[in-house]
Amino acid sequence: MYYIGVDLGTSSVKLLLMEENGEVIKTVTRTYDCQFPHPGWSEQKPEVWFEETMRGIKELTGEIEKGRVRGIGFGGQMHGLVTLDENDEVLRPAILWNDGRTEKQTRYLNEEIGEERLAKLTANIAFAGFTAPKILWMKENEPQLFAKIHKIMLPKDYLIYRLSGEFCTDYSDASGMLLLDVEHKCYSKEMCEICGIKEEMLPRLCESYEKVGTLRPEIAQELGFSEQTILAAGAGDNAAAAVAMGVVEEGQCNISLGTSGTVFIPTERCITGSNHAIHSFAAADGTFHLMGCILSAASCNQWWAEKIMETTDYAKEQEGIKKLGENPVYFLPYLMGERSPHNDPFARGAFLGMSLDTTRADMMQAVLEGVAFALCDSVEIARAQGIGLAASRICGGGAKSLLWRRMVANICNLKLEILEHEEGPSMGGAILAAVADGVYPDVRTACKEIVRVTETVEPEPELAEKYRKKYEVYKQLYPALKPVYQKLA
Ligand code: XUL
Repeated sequence: MYYIGVDLGTSSVKLLLMEENGEVIKTVTRTYDCQFPHPGWSEQKPEVWFEETMRGIKELTGEIEKGRVRGIGFGGQMHGLVTLDENDEVLRPAILWNDGRTEKQTRYLNEEIGEERLAKLTANIAFAGFTAPKILWMKENEPQLFAKIHKIMLPKDYLIYRLSGEFCTDYSDASGMLLLDVEHKCYSKEMCEICGIKEEMLPRLCESYEKVGTLRPEIAQELGFSEQTILAAGAGDNAAAAVAMGVVEEGQCNISLGTSGTVFIPTERCITGSNHAIHSFAAADGTFHLMGCILSAASCNQWWAEKIMETTDYAKEQEGIKKLGENPVYFLPYLMGERSPHNDPFARGAFLGMSLDTTRADMMQAVLEGVAFALCDSVEIARAQGIGLAASRICGGGAKSLLWRRMVANICNLKLEILEHEEGPSMGGAILAAVADGVYPDVRTACKEIVRVTETVEPEPELAEKYRKKYEVYKQLYPALKPVYQKLA
């Protein structure tokens, strides 16, 4: 039997076809653009997600016996606000996770409602990319559209709605709305009131590995699938990636170097840290996790190579980098503002420390190191909360660079584990669909049977020590620049 995983990302939708034993048969990627209608804003049209997903599924299954597809599971970019009217028409383009327009609403939530109150209601504080501040933004800036809202959903939930007619979400993705009482796994009535919405506007809550429904008959017919093909609720992309990486037990960690960069730490209980700088969310296996998220990770590499150096030859661009731990140039990777730990939509990228002998390779090196330092901020916050982190798995496009892996291992002082096959959230979605269909009794068992570590990258004590000293300098840069960022805004 086959299972399909759909990862609705920011730059593309990735689709994966998996045999029930976890063997990957085929993958397809369909790219699309992000619109940036104002500096710091980031939007996409849900219709494009749906059309590209349908095209992708057709391409993925063109050569197989379609009747053998038993289920589809999802991973998706988190926090995006999708609004539908009473006729199920999309009201406006989705406002994405890396959109920074809600500085005012985020400040209102954190300062007037208050961080302590928010943390009590949701286990988290407000960050500009979360869904609740976006709802408040719409209420204030687009009151006529806001008045027409009938349904509110997250990006991957829009796909599920179009494919099956089921209006549902899962706990991991719902955690990032700031409307969910994460610890008790129910919507917070008070948060709904604060945002001026009714709970009926929100999707039904499910576990990620739950079967939520089957394909609409007309969709099944268009795809040539059985009408009994099931859909699993799926998970936010980081929680889905954690499943694909087999990171489902306390003591483990996963670092993702995708468009965003994340540090994902499974926890049995819902933990809320003292300063809430990293998020406390539900996980895809029914437990919880802590997560730090930086808004620009592999996107910094892409920006530097493609936009500034005008090359797509990433390997060549990294070839000249020789002196690890000795680069005098620093880079702050806050190209779209920053989430963890600074929570500052006004933060921006910065280079520091150049001199007349600085080379192109030094600048490239600084970009890669800057992203690793920013991830290290989240690792250090978790360590300060008493979570012992010695090893992590690593995934995402950026993790394909051996050099970047080595930098992350040494800057974060973590042993990195590399998987035999790393497919990310789409694989997580396919595994969740197989669990929903009863192939595996639970997510952990599925991970044990499917996921294999084949390689490790050890931190090198001398290099880790050099980077520790550089990290001490890096940590001082954002606080020094913060007042300048306010003025630039
Ligand atoms: C997580 C987050 C990002 C997006 C990227 O909180 O905002 O990782 O999910 O797709």
